[in-house]
Parts: sequence; C-alpha cells; structure tokens
Amino acid sequence: MTPPLRSGREARDAGPAPRAARAHGKAVLFGEHAVVYGAPAVAVPLPALAATASATLRASGPPSRIESALYAGPAEGAPAPLSPVVEAIRAALDLVGAPAAHVSIRSDVPVGRGLGSSAAVAAAVVQAVAGAVGRALDPEERHGLIQVAERAAHGTPSGLDARAVVAAGPIRFHAGLAAPLALGAPLTLVIADSGAPGSTAEAVAGVRAMRDARPHTAGTLIDRLGSLAKGSTEDLASGDLDALGARMTDAHGLLRLLDVSTDALDALVGAAARAGALGAKLTGGGLGGCVVALAASPAEAEEIAGSLAAAGARQVWTMTQQATTSIPEATR
Ligand code: MEV
Repeated sequence: MTPPLRSGREARDAGPAPRAARAHGKAVLFGEHAVVYGAPAVAVPLPALAATASATLRASGPPSRIESALYAGPAEGAPAPLSPVVEAIRAALDLVGAPAAHVSIRSDVPVGRGLGSSAAVAAAVVQAVAGAVGRALDPEERHGLIQVAERAAHGTPSGLDARAVVAAGPIRFHAGLAAPLALGAPLTLVIADSGAPGSTAEAVAGVRAMRDARPHTAGTLIDRLGSLAKGSTEDLASGDLDALGARMTDAHGLLRLLDVSTDALDALVGAAARAGALGAKLTGGGLGGCVVALAASPAEAEEIAGSLAAAGARQVWTMTQQATTSIPEATR
C-alpha cells in the first residue's frame, strides 16, 4: 500500500496528549481448542503481565508509526509478527475516523507462549487510539477490534483471548460471550514457560486437520474437553481444588491426544505433579509455550515454582486470585 504523500512541513499533531491504555495476559484453565468448535472455556487474567500502549493522532500523513521493543518505524514496514497490531491500528483508526497515529507499545506478556500476547497488545493499542480522540470504546467495539488482530494472528479465533485480556477476574466463555466466575476458595496458580514458542495458528490448523481426517476421535476429545470446562465451573464455585486439579490433569491428557503438547510441556506437567501440584496442564494453543499448575496454597506454589525452574522452565510466575465475595456484573 502506498503511504500518503507528505507536505513539505511536518504534519502536526491533531489530538490531545497521548493516553496510556492497558490490558493483560491470560491463562486458559479449560477448553482451549475445544472452544474453537463451540465448547465452553475458562480463563483467568494475569494482571502482572501487562501490555500498555499510548497513541498520538496525526491530522494527515505521515503514515502510522509503531514504537516497540520489537520494532520502531512505519506501520507499513513492520515485521510479520506485528501484522496483527498493524491491522488493529488500522481498524481502530477507521472506527474513530482518523487518518494515522503514532503508537508506542510496551508489553510484559511473552510472545508465542499461549499467554495472550497478541490479544493483550491489540486491546491496549485500540483503546489508546480511541482514547487519543477522547473516545471510550464500548466493550463490543473493543472486542471487535481485538478480534481483527486475532484473525490476522490465527485465522479463526474463538474470542476467548480477546475477552480474557480485558477481564477483571476469572471468566467462563461460551458462544462469544464471557461471564464472571464465582470462586469458592482462593485460586493459586503457577505458570511455567517451557522456553519454546508455540504457534497458535499451527496448533489450531493441526486440530482442524485431525478433525477432518478423524472426525469421531477429534470430536470425542473436543466434547470431553468441553465437559471438563463445564464441570470446572462447579469446582471453582464450591472451592473443590482437588477435583479442579484432577480435571486439569485430565485436560492435559486430552490435549496430548489432540497432538498439541510437546515433550517439554509433558515434562513440566510431570514435574509439577511430583512437586505436589493438585493438577497441571498446558495452557493456550500449545506446541510450545506454557503449563499452568494448581497449588493448594501460595506457600505450595513457591515450592512448585522452584521445582519447575529446576526442571528447565525458562520463566515461572505465581498468582493467587482471591475467593469471590460478589461478582461484578460488567464483565462480558
Ligand atoms: C488460545 O489461547 C486458545 C485457542 O483455543 C484458540 C482460540 O480460542 O481461538 C487455542
């Protein structure tokens, strides 16, 4: 695409001072892959892994520009991994009726680890672009714009990541919508990065190929993953962590049979179990990326985290989501 011609003088800023917008990573507890075929899923936000963006609008050219750790320069020339962000910027500019923006991005969400990096960055970017014209996106506008980036990243996104990276607490996701989940007990998780990137696009395509070649086998696995997701919401509500952990380990076994695990992920799941985790599984698209383990308490989580680091995890995070006293109605 040809960039717009520039006049001899620098184009001036059209909008107010840049506003920072924020989203966060996520971990899928249940239902990844199955959710692409309409099954329910459960995800938790990872507020410690933040993506932030600020944007300044331009009245006319120069073309949009990105400043990030990965790349700084015209949006048109951004490397392929940034194309979902470029698409999100374009779609947000179209929505607010602005020609171009300079967008600065910072993200602590590791890329290609199943923790929602592309959706989190897109969520921050589209809010920043809209914020630069003093416009607050409504949740469905924001969701639609994040999905533009997600489609560029992996073709047929369920919308789970787009909802989870802006959620205030754990969500149950089904048929495009998210509802807040009740927690009957604190939920303490350990997330460990295998160090190997995984391509969600490749993993989703692999599951689709299995579904085409062996519809009965893949269909059964998908149904069972959906049933685990459904049952997990009851465990979460009643605070039955033993049952929840057992479901996580079962889900990992089913995801292995869907061919989206790796030796490194299986090894981390095994290490978590030996260290006393109540359950563990890969999280997100798989074929690399992370595992999530359930701990009985924050002290247990530290033990498990140490064992996972010793077993070769590149990075380990722990988080505790407190039990729910009331559920915010606004989560969608
Ligand atoms: C990725 O976090 C979750 C997947 O189910 C893909 C999707 O929901 O679009 C693998």
